[in-house]
Amino acid sequence: MVFGVGLIINAVLVAIPVGGSVGALMGIDAHRAATGQKPLFAGGNTEDGSSPGGGNGGSGSTGDGGNHNSTSSVHGTQSTEYCDLSWGITPPSKTEQYTLNPNQWGVDGTTVGKLCMNVTTFKNETYPTKTAPEFSVNWMFDAGPETQPVHAYSNIRVDNVLPLALDSMQELYLDLHWTYGVGNTSAETTSQDDLTTANLNTNVAIDMFLDSDKDKAENGTNAQYEVMVWFAQFGPATQPIGLSDKSKATRELNGTTFDLFVGKNGQGQTVMSWVAQEAVSGGFKEKFTGDIYPLITDLYTLDPSKLKDLTPPSKGDFLGSLAFGTEAFYSNSFVTFSVPQYKIDIRT
Ligand SMILES: *[C@@H]1O[C@H](CO)[C@@H](O)[C@H](O)[C@H]1NC(C)=O
Ligand SMILES: *[C@@H]1O[C@H](CO)[C@@H](O)[C@H](O)[C@H]1NC(C)=O
Ligand SMILES: *[C@@H]1O[C@H](CO)[C@@H](O)[C@H](O)[C@H]1NC(C)=O
Ligand SMILES: *[C@@H]1O[C@H](CO)[C@@H](O)[C@H](O)[C@H]1NC(C)=O
Ligand SMILES: *[C@@H]1O[C@H](CO)[C@@H](O)[C@H](O)[C@H]1NC(C)=O
Ligand SMILES: *[C@@H]1O[C@H](CO)[C@@H](O)[C@H](O)[C@H]1NC(C)=O
Repeated sequence: MVFGVGLIINAVLVAIPVGGSVGALMGIDAHRAATGQKPLFAGGNTEDGSSPGGGNGGSGSTGDGGNHNSTSSVHGTQSTEYCDLSWGITPPSKTEQYTLNPNQWGVDGTTVGKLCMNVTTFKNETYPTKTAPEFSVNWMFDAGPETQPVHAYSNIRVDNVLPLALDSMQELYLDLHWTYGVGNTSAETTSQDDLTTANLNTNVAIDMFLDSDKDKAENGTNAQYEVMVWFAQFGPATQPIGLSDKSKATRELNGTTFDLFVGKNGQGQTVMSWVAQEAVSGGFKEKFTGDIYPLITDLYTLDPSKLKDLTPPSKGDFLGSLAFGTEAFYSNSFVTFSVPQYKIDIRT
């Protein structure tokens, strides 16, 4: 395939909704608050009108409640499928607390396609230290209009830890293994050829929000900085903001080299994206283990002359939100994003 310059420019523009994704979610929360509903992240409600009548998930847990398809119950685990547009899934946990969300914020009556999230919970509610429940996201969408190319940012968030002052943190330890595969079941490993044949357009990324104001840092719309860590960039529709400029910095972490791209999104936020070098050229890195805190601290000392009119964050700023997920643009076949291992340990 050959892509003209015009298409590349479009590709950069359409990357903007990455920044808007969590913001859109916050917008839904504001709507819910205004109409007297529970906040989304507390779990137990839906946006797509198919809400079950009862106020399920009362204690902020949706491990089982709701109009969802609970599937196999194997060896002390339970898998539940959530096809809701937006639903805060907070599985009961005696260990680390996480909230998952299909977060189909770019889907309406005209959308052709479908997305469901499958979460596998432990009945004993006891997960390995700092480790999230296993989950997967199964989807297929036609390409959306240029004004709304992203259908969903299905993601998992850490609860109860943030906001935190950046310099109060010692380590941001990540242990990650994900795969993307064609079809409705989780792939063992990711095959670039299969995904190219399926014309898959998506990314896999951590999305963080930072601000000098603690409250703004928690709000994806108001935060001054969006800091991302990309592990995959599939298809021409999704590119980090600033990719066409040179990389502003490089950092090697336990065998993975990240390049930094910087720019502003449509909301005026400064977006700083560390992209694994495999992903810069349209590939992926499906495993990573190590401390990603240097990807934040490196930003403090960036040469301002390289950043044009943008100022980097500083150590007094706050980290307000941290999510990990995949942005669904389009695909010709059903694909499954699977996360067998996701552990986040924010050490202070
Ligand atoms: C985030 O900020 C926006 C814009 O100021 C506001 O409309 C929204 O209610 C805020 N969201 C939350 C969850 O506070
Ligand atoms: C619910 O799960 C069952 C068992 O896996 C499956 O046969 C059925 O098709 C599912 N229903 C929907 C609506 O997805
Ligand atoms: C909790 O359940 C999971 C899944 O069955 C099991 O692997 C784990 O060992 C159990 N943990 C404890 C502390 O019982
Ligand atoms: C959900 O995930 C579990 C664990 O990977 C799997 O056994 C189950 O078949 C999946 N269910 C659906 C509906 O995808
Ligand atoms: C995958 O699941 C969708 C429904 O979610 C179904 O329409 C499709 O036929 C399935 N594809 C395969 C290959 O089983
Ligand atoms: C580096 O990655 C390997 C797996 O590739 C992991 O076993 C090891 O613990 C990691 N090292 C650090 C310091 O995190």
